[in-house]
Amino acid sequence: MTVTIEDIELAHDRLGGIVKPTPLILSETFSRMMAAEVFIKPENLQKTGSFKIRGAYNRIASLSAEEKLRGVIAASAGNHGQALAYAATRAGVRATVVMPETAAIAKIAATRNYGQTVILEGIDYQAARAAAARICAESGAVFVDAYDDAQVVAGQGTVGLEIADELSGSRGADVVLVPVGGGGLIAGVAVALGARSPATEVIGVEAAGAAQLSASLAADKAASIGKPVDTIADGLATGRIGAIPYSLIRGRVRRAVTVDDFEIGAAVLLLLERMKLLAEGAGAAALAGALKLGGELAGKRVVVVVSGGNIDINLLDRIIGHGLAKMGRLYRIALTLHDRPGELNILLAQIGKMGANVRAIDHDRTRRDIAIGGAYVSLELETRGPEHIAAIHAHLRKAGYDITEEN
Ligand SMILES: Cc1ncc(COP(=O)(O)O)c(C=O)c1O
Repeated sequence: MTVTIEDIELAHDRLGGIVKPTPLILSETFSRMMAAEVFIKPENLQKTGSFKIRGAYNRIASLSAEEKLRGVIAASAGNHGQALAYAATRAGVRATVVMPETAAIAKIAATRNYGQTVILEGIDYQAARAAAARICAESGAVFVDAYDDAQVVAGQGTVGLEIADELSGSRGADVVLVPVGGGGLIAGVAVALGARSPATEVIGVEAAGAAQLSASLAADKAASIGKPVDTIADGLATGRIGAIPYSLIRGRVRRAVTVDDFEIGAAVLLLLERMKLLAEGAGAAALAGALKLGGELAGKRVVVVVSGGNIDINLLDRIIGHGLAKMGRLYRIALTLHDRPGELNILLAQIGKMGANVRAIDHDRTRRDIAIGGAYVSLELETRGPEHIAAIHAHLRKAGYDITEEN
């Protein structure tokens, strides 16, 4: 089964009035950081919060009347399910979405809010997929794969068509970076750009704990990583590339950049702080990949696909915490005080004098590693950066405190 530029153009016509236009945004900050001309394709601002509405709607639009009556079923880490539920509701079709028990709470709630059925089953995407296949065999509903489906790939390809159209009046993009889960998005984008902007290089960005594109390019076939997935980018955590996407990726995408969770988290923060764009891990992965390529992109015109923005606020909180600690804007220390009235007050006065704000404090007199008569205190401080941390550290040591742990 193949996907042609005509299939993508047809999908684009079908999606008129359904998807939101997401015009490219030129980022001065990222352009400066990479000495390149960097554009963002902000699909986090897309309806349902990700590009997935494109493939899901195109698939539903291509169902026959008889298939529509049978309803649709899908397995999804969240975004495909959310998009399918929205598309099905608009088309008056029943949808069942099987999500892993670990799916993001925001994605489960949004899918239910579209008035469709959500079943939570399995520890990860592949387990949910197996459950969906079983339920599908029992119910007779039409299975809509999240990526291994020609109509879904054609729908995702409209992202590439829009990039080519928007840059058509000028020099096209030299490089387009696309996040890769099962490969549906990059396959569609590669077909669209291959036809409309053949000089553009399409690079896949994958999560280190779900490096199925590297595995597939190495084996030159749709491959699975052969171990459990492990990444904060749940949208990329498929563990395998689909056969249809790989048949299109083959020869069109030659390169995978692999990014770890720290790099993905840093990219989430950068998008938030510098561009006021909220991206989920999968959505920020392509930016992490671009930053990793760094100097290689110098002088080039680069498009980074920010594919989705449906992130759990709890995860965002953890990412922000890690990021702040790394930037020196959060500092944790532990020390032991004499357990006497007023000692904690004196310590806090010293910290206040240094202009640090206490974010959290733990005061424990019964730890086994503390002498009777001692009190263990750990503090999380809001700081202004590494120099401020060094000054606080020096001040406390000078005041006689023995800092036992810090990070
Ligand atoms: C936000 C986001 N980005 C990227 C992807 C990867 O897309 P594909 O599975 O088509 O490679 C997904 C898939 O769920 C996603 O939700």
